[in-house]
Amino acid sequence: MKEKINKTITGGKSFENPTPIFSPEQRRQLPISVLFGGNSSERPGSIKSSMTVANLLQQAGYEHVDRVDITDQTVRTLADNRPFGVAFMTMHGGTGEDGTLQGLLEMMDIPYTGSGIAASAISADKVLFSNFVRGLGYNTANQIVVSKASELEGLDMTFPKVIKPATQGCSYGVFFVKDMAELLEKATFSEQFSERMAIEDYIPGREVSVGLFENPHTRSPHVLPISEIFLKRPIQDFESKIAGGEALMETVIPAQLEPQLQGTIETICADIFTKLNCKGYVRMDLRIAENGDIYVLENNSSPGMLNMQESDFPKMLIAGGINPPEFADLMVEAALLNYQERHEKKAPSKKEMIEYLDLP
Ligand SMILES: Nc1ncnc2c1ncn2[C@@H]1O[C@H](COP(=O)(O)OP(=O)(O)O)[C@@H](O)[C@H]1O
Ligand SMILES: [Mg+2]
Repeated sequence: MKEKINKTITGGKSFENPTPIFSPEQRRQLPISVLFGGNSSERPGSIKSSMTVANLLQQAGYEHVDRVDITDQTVRTLADNRPFGVAFMTMHGGTGEDGTLQGLLEMMDIPYTGSGIAASAISADKVLFSNFVRGLGYNTANQIVVSKASELEGLDMTFPKVIKPATQGCSYGVFFVKDMAELLEKATFSEQFSERMAIEDYIPGREVSVGLFENPHTRSPHVLPISEIFLKRPIQDFESKIAGGEALMETVIPAQLEPQLQGTIETICADIFTKLNCKGYVRMDLRIAENGDIYVLENNSSPGMLNMQESDFPKMLIAGGINPPEFADLMVEAALLNYQERHEKKAPSKKEMIEYLDLP
């Protein structure tokens, strides 16, 4: 396991590990609260992910694993009467994935798995994420960003387009549209999902998904075998993602990609992971255009772990030869190291600053 996990894609700076606060044996004695639920549209998936993760932690030898349903009520009492070890995040969508809950945990001084506030917030917003990726010099689909469908009337644009609410997942409100009439009709529906929506150029070509996770030992992301999604429709729409839509798409892991293309995709994803300061595990969706150009669509900062056989991320883990219980343990270890790192620095005071500069 160690050897596999240490295989990295990008170099990563050489890093002296901070002394782990807990030995592996002590770590497994910590109370772990698997946080799930919330009130986003992805609540049902989160319930399943939390059961999968709780199971993996138990298999890894954790003796005090608790599942906590995050509701308006329970969130108020999270830090009360609970010896809090680590919060294992299995919330999907909404305030559980967009940095809000992460901020609350920071304020309550509770270590948690996965990305921090900024990386979560940027990943949860398809407009912010796209701007971030473009800033790194990678391709993203051109976007027109509007709040209301009526703002699109009369604009001169090419077709087809894809409509995407900025802060939704699971293809809620996502549509492929061929012309202006269809765009206006579908956008009138989609505008209800989110403050803003992106109208993106449609990128024809292959679709792949890339799972990555933080390796706390090397400080470099570990890239898992890539999955390719073969679609019967132009896009992975809502119908293809819900129960009954299985016939509309097929997933193949590992994707059969030219080694050079595969290497480029891995490098791009690892670079975004690092520069966005992602933690824990993520899954990025990309398209490979017909001319070979790679377009980054989105980053899922809390990918589904609904069950080991069907969810993409666990399938990628298994294809990568990673033992899932050991992976869950590694994510707890990473959460503790990240927590320790955030807390070991104490900012100098105004007085110390003045003394340092030798100011009167
Ligand atoms: N610009 C685009 N060009 C082609 N297909 C797209 C584009 N944007 C999204 N899609 C399709 O729509 C699906 C959902 O979009 P995505 O950005 O992954 O959001 P989410 O999965 O959160 O709903 C993708 O898997 C892809 O099939
Ligand atoms: Mg997606």
